[in-house]
Amino acid sequence: MKKLILAIVLCFTFAGVRADEGMWLPSLIGSRINDMRQKGFKLSAEDIYSVNKASMKDAVVLFGSGCTGEYVSDQGLLLTNHHCGYGAIQKLSAVEHDYLTDGFWAMSREEELPCEGLSVRRLVRMEDVTARVAAGESFDEIKKQAIDEGYSASIEQMYYGNQQFLFVYEIFTDVRLVAAPPSSIGKFGGDTDNWIWPRHTGDFSIFRVYAGKDNKPAKYSKENQPYRPARHLRISTKGVKEGDFTMIYGYPANTQEYVISDAVEYVAEVSNPMKIALRTERLDIISAAQEQDPAIRIQYAAKHAGIANAWKKWQGEALGIKRLGTIEKKRAYEKEFAAWAADKPEYAHLLDSMHAAYNVVREWYYMGELYAETGKTIELCAMANVLHTAKMRYDNLPENFKKLYVSYNVDVDRALAKAVLKGFERYCPAEKYPAALRAEIGKYGGTVDAYVDYIYDNSHATSFEKAAAATKEQMETDPAMRLFEIFTFDKKMYRNMSNAPEVERWYRTFMKALREWDKERAFYPDANFTLRVAYGSVAGYEYADGEYHNPVSTLDGIIEKDNPNIYDYNIPQVLRDIYAAKDYGRWGEKVNGRYTVPVAFIATNHTSGGNSGSPVINGKGELIGINFDRTWRSTMSDIEFDPSICRNISVDIRFVLFVIDRVGGAGYLLEEMDLR
Ligand code: ARG
Ligand code: ASP
Repeated sequence: MKKLILAIVLCFTFAGVRADEGMWLPSLIGSRINDMRQKGFKLSAEDIYSVNKASMKDAVVLFGSGCTGEYVSDQGLLLTNHHCGYGAIQKLSAVEHDYLTDGFWAMSREEELPCEGLSVRRLVRMEDVTARVAAGESFDEIKKQAIDEGYSASIEQMYYGNQQFLFVYEIFTDVRLVAAPPSSIGKFGGDTDNWIWPRHTGDFSIFRVYAGKDNKPAKYSKENQPYRPARHLRISTKGVKEGDFTMIYGYPANTQEYVISDAVEYVAEVSNPMKIALRTERLDIISAAQEQDPAIRIQYAAKHAGIANAWKKWQGEALGIKRLGTIEKKRAYEKEFAAWAADKPEYAHLLDSMHAAYNVVREWYYMGELYAETGKTIELCAMANVLHTAKMRYDNLPENFKKLYVSYNVDVDRALAKAVLKGFERYCPAEKYPAALRAEIGKYGGTVDAYVDYIYDNSHATSFEKAAAATKEQMETDPAMRLFEIFTFDKKMYRNMSNAPEVERWYRTFMKALREWDKERAFYPDANFTLRVAYGSVAGYEYADGEYHNPVSTLDGIIEKDNPNIYDYNIPQVLRDIYAAKDYGRWGEKVNGRYTVPVAFIATNHTSGGNSGSPVINGKGELIGINFDRTWRSTMSDIEFDPSICRNISVDIRFVLFVIDRVGGAGYLLEEMDLR
């Protein structure tokens, strides 16, 4: 009996340590390395991050403006997600060569396509500069050395300003597209499956980074050579199974794990419901138009996906917060904290100060979010502003402004404008409603509908031809321009409400207090788009009562979903043929008793937006997958991570190799990779 009680107590204590939570700074990973090794990691902290010698960090890059990528050859070959390369692939596509739909496979270096505007950053080093900042050195002084060395540098706040870190980057701009699967693989499941497990998406694309003869960043030139990274990842083709150690190395952008209940309540009960409702209306309008007209379906595909992505995430987040009882848990935690802080003058006031600050900040922060989801989404207004600026610069509007209208339908936009302005009316407290907007509506029709019709009937921004014919003065006083001005928000919006300076100043002290008080808790700084390490293991989970989800998906699942009549599930014929012939070559294996090809897997790593494209690494430091998503009921991991349900989703590297080899016929690419 005693043993049983002990076992139960131990169980609870271990659960209390909250295994797998955390996004750790690579330079400080030494503090986690024992735990990592206990869970199956075989290498050292120096292998993960080192300033003096090549380490894994040299194989990981910040890709574009919001993703992660990793080198897999000594010739600058880089893997990331298809949805991360999407913009670049779209830019290179045209009706005659639609690489999004058909995929793209460079069969030689000469066929690789330069991606204008795309960049890749390597972290050279990171440094805790808290003491220097405290001693009065300015950020510019601190960054100077790195900049003199030819690097770019930024200083980021950790723990709400308790620590400052310098990040030094090398930025490469000659990045070329090497390969992309057709969207029917790279985006298989589309928005229907987005944020969902089981998942069957081959979400990868391949690029190559080029450098000058000295292996340093250089502008695009035919003379440039493939970049030789100090380290690239070896690839394991052995596969994964439940319980295997996994590590994610990448650039998560935004979490808020330490916020008090006020902030969670705001997210779950105010902000998310408002944003979800407003986006539902926009999505309905776009979907209806897409069903009517195939041209609109294409024009609005990326916009729809963009709006739907966060919309779905917020719904899952709200569900997750409710299911975990995060608000109540936080309140209980705060009560305990308050009891501890009561006799400490420097901390006793904290919660009251924070409540008060939130009461002030949430009013304007809410308005900022409401603006962002309504008036600021009206494309005509944004275009009027761009055209107005252009008119000031050029006598004749350059032809390339026609591009503004390629993915634009004025009727859809008009309907959207009516919906968001009505939504704004609904969600805006009467005393905050802009007088200028009321006056405009009063002057032009009296109702939102009439006002919007007036704008769209009279604006010069509704087509390239009209804009080209308009005078500077006409553009200046364009009714869409006026609406644009009404919706300029005069306050800076922050990553989260809690990062607004009025609240953040209290968090600086609160974090200090928490670390003194909650000795059991393993603290890591919130994600802020700096390089992090997360680790966990491959694991299924109980999705709902009695419904267990296996951690591995396979080609059989793709075939089950395959349906030529459903856009999101219409796979390329070649994949059907390969399946029919069970012609899997070296990529076939038995999974749960069936001969098939593994496709994706879930694990308990703590990830966030920005971790897309991150390498998933096994205990030996080898690449086993590419991270691309989370399950939607676990997206509250940005606020509270629960290892029992939070899962990141990765494409199995063997599916990536299978697609390159069997679908793309680009097996030659595997030769430069290090396959184990
Ligand atoms: N949910 C993933 C992330 O947040 C992937 C989004 C891309 N896919 C899509 N169907 N919209 O970015
Ligand atoms: N899909 C996300 C990304 O693009 C990753 C996530 O939020 O889990 O970064």
